[in-house]
Amino acid sequence: MDPFNDSGRGDAAADAAARAATLRAEIARHDHAYYVLDAPTIPDAEYDRLFRELQVIEKAHPALRSADSPTQRVGGRPLAQFAAVRHRVPMLSISTETDTEASGAFAFDARVRRALGLKEEDAAVAYAAELKFDGLAISLRYEDGVLVQAATRGDGETGEDVTANVRTVKAIPLRLLGDAPPVLEVRGEIYLRRDDFERLNARQAEAGEKIFVNPRNAAAGSIRQLDPGIAARRPLSFFAYGLGDVAGWALPATHTEVLDALAAFGLPVCEHRAQVCGAAGLAAFHESVGALRDTLPFDIDGVVYKVDALALQQRLGFVTREPRWAVAHKYPAQEAVTLLRDIEVQVGRTGALTPVARLEPVFVGGVTVTNATLHNQDEIDRKDVRIGDWVIVRRAGDVIPEVVAPVLERRSGEPPRFVLLDKFPTCPVCGSHVVRGEDEAVARCTGGLFCPAQRKQALLHFASRRAMDIEGLGDKLVDQLVDAAIVKTPVDLYRLGVLALANLERMGEKSAQNLLMAIEKSRSTTLARFIFALGIRNVGEATARDLARHFGNLDALVAADVDALQQVPDVGPIVAECIAEFFAEPHNREVIEQLRAAGVHWAEGEPQGTVAGALAGKTFVLTGTLPTLSRDGAKARIEAQGGKVAGSVSKKTHYVVVGADAGSKLDKAQALGLAILDEDGLRALLNESDTNA
Ligand code: IVH
Repeated sequence: MDPFNDSGRGDAAADAAARAATLRAEIARHDHAYYVLDAPTIPDAEYDRLFRELQVIEKAHPALRSADSPTQRVGGRPLAQFAAVRHRVPMLSISTETDTEASGAFAFDARVRRALGLKEEDAAVAYAAELKFDGLAISLRYEDGVLVQAATRGDGETGEDVTANVRTVKAIPLRLLGDAPPVLEVRGEIYLRRDDFERLNARQAEAGEKIFVNPRNAAAGSIRQLDPGIAARRPLSFFAYGLGDVAGWALPATHTEVLDALAAFGLPVCEHRAQVCGAAGLAAFHESVGALRDTLPFDIDGVVYKVDALALQQRLGFVTREPRWAVAHKYPAQEAVTLLRDIEVQVGRTGALTPVARLEPVFVGGVTVTNATLHNQDEIDRKDVRIGDWVIVRRAGDVIPEVVAPVLERRSGEPPRFVLLDKFPTCPVCGSHVVRGEDEAVARCTGGLFCPAQRKQALLHFASRRAMDIEGLGDKLVDQLVDAAIVKTPVDLYRLGVLALANLERMGEKSAQNLLMAIEKSRSTTLARFIFALGIRNVGEATARDLARHFGNLDALVAADVDALQQVPDVGPIVAECIAEFFAEPHNREVIEQLRAAGVHWAEGEPQGTVAGALAGKTFVLTGTLPTLSRDGAKARIEAQGGKVAGSVSKKTHYVVVGADAGSKLDKAQALGLAILDEDGLRALLNESDTNA
């Protein structure tokens, strides 16, 4: 068949459209299962395959790239500011019941009954009881089932258009399931799970970025990011709890049924909710959630009671800006005042030093607290907390209590300010130097491979595929090896025997043999891989390769000072500083020597400065998914001919290679008037330069 024949093209296009629709529905179904129901349906690799197939089809048929496609979650370019959105139905707040005991629930029920003119002998009022999520309120507008706009609450009348950021939240469907009405505005809360919050902060610390004080701040900060690319990397979650503007939908009779309907549309609705009767029902819910609170994976700010029947809600109406039919019922403050005896530090997996308050034991929220986090030096300065102060300690839903503030009236004299670097110039775990970068919130141990607190992370990196490539050395195994003190530094890996391994959990003799073989194989490596494997901060794979090429051998690199390091292309003062600091640490040099003594080797060469090759001096940026070449494959080909692959587009970029789903990098390349290639163009360039070479 002639592929350019009209009918042929029509068929192909129709086939592509049908396949794209199938893939989109399938991916949405898996997203729903994974992010909303918390019950994954397929392996990640299979999901990735479906996703890539859809990307390829959309690349070939751009007209098929609809707004509700899962490939379009991240796409928008950074904004200069958010546009204002006027809420068609205002976003109100709810009043808070100040009495945190069961009597608070009785008081609310009494107010509702009085307002409805109910007598004592009249039946109990039915309520919907739910959690008060601690995040930020958001309004999602769906038109004909497709998410068209997301807005923050703002002042309740006018909010900010944060659609691009909200689209990156995987728990929020881009298209509703089933028979969606023409207009449906869903109100709910964007929040961060506690474990996601911890991981995010660890990542922030690793990158020397701002540490968030609590999950709510982190969620709010993420949604108010002007760059959707950054928002996309924040693991946000969502719960729906109500409605805004609605058209063309017959509302159910109760709030409970509204939430059931939202869940059926594929929206996440929290499972901890109940339909209860009267004040006693509310009080029982308050108590049971109170008992459950610490075990929830996210923070709550109390519970919310809503009169269940929408007709009664309407009758009750509003006072000022608050509905008379709803109330927030909180829990007793989990705060107490105690003496701050001392400040010590804890060393995290990334070397970050977290100041920890040692407290005079105090009973808060049901447990005795002796330690509390002070987050970092900036937080200590901001709160002006000093050793010897009486301090307010809060135990939020979090398991880790925090110092909120000093009680200044009880401070005697002028105790000295606490300066972490003065008290801990060296790491309390391993004795290596502690440093804090100029713009960094976090102080860090430079012990790297030597510091036990950082060992697990460092070992995993050392063994990773692009570093020493030790197959089978995963995190479970590393945990066991380090916890049992079998492995302290990467050197110990090369001294492992079958016996020590085979006795570990989930490790038979066969897997032990396989692992030993993988370790054996890794002894023969390249200088670039070895440098990358060391896990020097800010030295990624590309920089490691540049360093290897430039210095030719390890001794020259170890001996290089900051100036010499900056001679390497793309190594600026910050990276040079990190490298020099790493090799200045005697422990690190020792580990390197031991690795060489253990037989880790590579071919050493003379310093090369710059590389030969047809593409020498040319910088490429890859963006989007290429039809046949993987990213690594394309990179390897470019580098084989002396070209460099950079992560971001700038005036210095020579070529931008564009595949499906290319984002802001393509826009930037066009704006700068750079040469843009597709895969064929890249291949042509590679072949051409082959023949020229
Ligand atoms: S209902 C008209 N339900 O609390 C009633 N709000 O003061 C509108 N919130 O910032 C709110 N969990 O984002 C409602 N289950 C819940 C909630 C909830 C948290 C937040 C909401 C707003 C504040 C209301």
